[in-house]
Amino acid sequence: MKLIKLLVVPILLLNTNFLKSQTYDTVWLSSLDISKATIGWGKPGKDVSCMGNPIILNGKTYKKGFGTHASSIFYLKLNGGSARFHALVGINDEEKASSGSAVFKVYSNNDLLWQSGILKSGGPEEVVDISMANIDTLILCTETTADGPNYDHTDWADSYFLVKNTFPVAIDKPFEPAIILTPKVPLTPRINGPKIYGSRPGNDFLFRISATGERPIAFTANGLPSGLTLDAKTGIITGKIKQAGKYEVNLTTTNKLGKNSRKLTIVCGNQIALTPPLGWNSWNCFACDVDEKKVKAAANAMVNSGLADHGWSYINIDDCWMVKPESDDSIVGGKTRDAQGNMNTNKKFPDMKGLADYIHSLGLKIGTYSGPGPKTCAGYTACYQFEEKDAQRFADWGFDYLKYDWCDYELIAKDHSLPELKKPYSVMQNALGKTNRDIVYSLCQYGMGDVWEWGAEVGGNCWRTTGDITDDWSSVESIGFGQAGHEAFAGPGHWNDPDMLVVGKVGWGPQLHYTRLSPNEQYTHISLWALLAAPLLIGCDMTQMDEFTYSLLSNDEVLDVNQDILGKQASRIVQYDGLEVWSKELEDGSKAVGLFNRGLFPASLTVTWKDLGISGTYTVRDLWPQTDEGKFDQKYTATIPAHGVKLVRVYK
Ligand code: GAL
Repeated sequence: MKLIKLLVVPILLLNTNFLKSQTYDTVWLSSLDISKATIGWGKPGKDVSCMGNPIILNGKTYKKGFGTHASSIFYLKLNGGSARFHALVGINDEEKASSGSAVFKVYSNNDLLWQSGILKSGGPEEVVDISMANIDTLILCTETTADGPNYDHTDWADSYFLVKNTFPVAIDKPFEPAIILTPKVPLTPRINGPKIYGSRPGNDFLFRISATGERPIAFTANGLPSGLTLDAKTGIITGKIKQAGKYEVNLTTTNKLGKNSRKLTIVCGNQIALTPPLGWNSWNCFACDVDEKKVKAAANAMVNSGLADHGWSYINIDDCWMVKPESDDSIVGGKTRDAQGNMNTNKKFPDMKGLADYIHSLGLKIGTYSGPGPKTCAGYTACYQFEEKDAQRFADWGFDYLKYDWCDYELIAKDHSLPELKKPYSVMQNALGKTNRDIVYSLCQYGMGDVWEWGAEVGGNCWRTTGDITDDWSSVESIGFGQAGHEAFAGPGHWNDPDMLVVGKVGWGPQLHYTRLSPNEQYTHISLWALLAAPLLIGCDMTQMDEFTYSLLSNDEVLDVNQDILGKQASRIVQYDGLEVWSKELEDGSKAVGLFNRGLFPASLTVTWKDLGISGTYTVRDLWPQTDEGKFDQKYTATIPAHGVKLVRVYK
């Protein structure tokens, strides 16, 4: 730690009287262990920005400073030993031409000591110069504003403490225990998962009845449309429905402890994905390190862990299964297509049809990934000018889901006008339409041209509304809460997709790490995605799931919010001081309500029945522990942990 002895007389003139002629040590903020700071993107910068560039604010370069990226948080123990904290704060000029904006905050425990205005890229900096008298724990934060975290390169320039005796020390964020709220499932049989399922006439049909309870379980299904048969031991329904129509099927599950029945509506018509897809995707854990073995292991884990008994069904391979043109790596390189122009797999996927058959034999579905450009984002072969051939190949292999990623179609598109944005997606829509297979069509172009307004028109069953998610709070917070306003465009068969889940062991391969989200942030992530009626695609290595992660993904009452057959996406109905309430209507007339606290400290939050458009007495059910909280008149109040949530159902 580098110290400079300083006589503070000049500062005394500028600021207060209390420092009178005492000698203080100057401790630069950047000399502390800045690796303890959590920042939204990049690396905590010692005398440099989060990108490693000089600290420059509003044209002036500072030798000393701490470079962060919103949202960031840095805990310090002062033990009452410091006299003042000083810094110049702003957005680094490396983002001068961009639209970064952030707010800086300084807390002593729960008390806000100082807050900047909204500081913008290229705009003026602000000065923080505050007394640290008697302060024990100091928290330095930067927060994103409504425009999200992009370009928020927040710098604490020229930042130092004047220290009387005890030096400040950087400390870890307070430990938050991972408390499991989801109750254990009973041993008696219970049917879970979607209550409605869509398919098209004449196409292969596959539906695994999701049921918890002690095995063996015997399944029955009364009222199945002609062409379908049930395997009474596995609960897997297969076949082809010839006649379009709506079929009410009565499912039962029986084991030695009891019996449970539930209605399943099968709608055979034009539309599939009548509830948001529930599954897994290889990208957030393995990225290009994916191979057949890992995909099979994921499918086995989905069944063996019990997740498939809660409604999870898709196993989706993301990028990097094809041949990589011009690669000298013998595993991924080679001939991109065969003599007939059919796309080849690389050597990590020696038998795609065999893999799909295996996954189907478990009652699960399999998804793939490609894009409209010549290459995928990772530089592998994609569908450009082979769309019909490739769609047919995907169908022949037995794929049930296609994520179609814009990527280097950027080189082909003339511009980002609506016709250019829609074109490649319509081409693939037509190609898929000719395959006679139910393939969920997932558009991935990061929200360009407000895709939610026209994604359904080009056949999309879901469309990414954002760039890629990462496993940190600023990413999950800005993407999740940034979905407000898209609700009008979601509904059965067509969903907004705020990207995949980042709970459990993720890492974009080969090295995996446990999610950097705190337990409360993980509850927020899953609760919000459930309310948003988002496709839920698990992003972790399911073979390494701990009990907490499993509990987050196997809560049937939470999943029911996501899978509700009305297909509504929640709206934000209350928003103030970092507190938000989101709500959506459910099929049975009740409301699913999320009370969220985006702030750093626990806070009390009230939702009134007026906010929810109801009046009278209602029961509030806490969905994570699955317990009723009692009857409430006109309003409900709860204390919400920092970055946490209370997810409830309000019912008569
Ligand atoms: C990105 C996409 C990610 C992942 C990746 C594969 O464009 O948003 O979800 O699919 O490509 O290269």
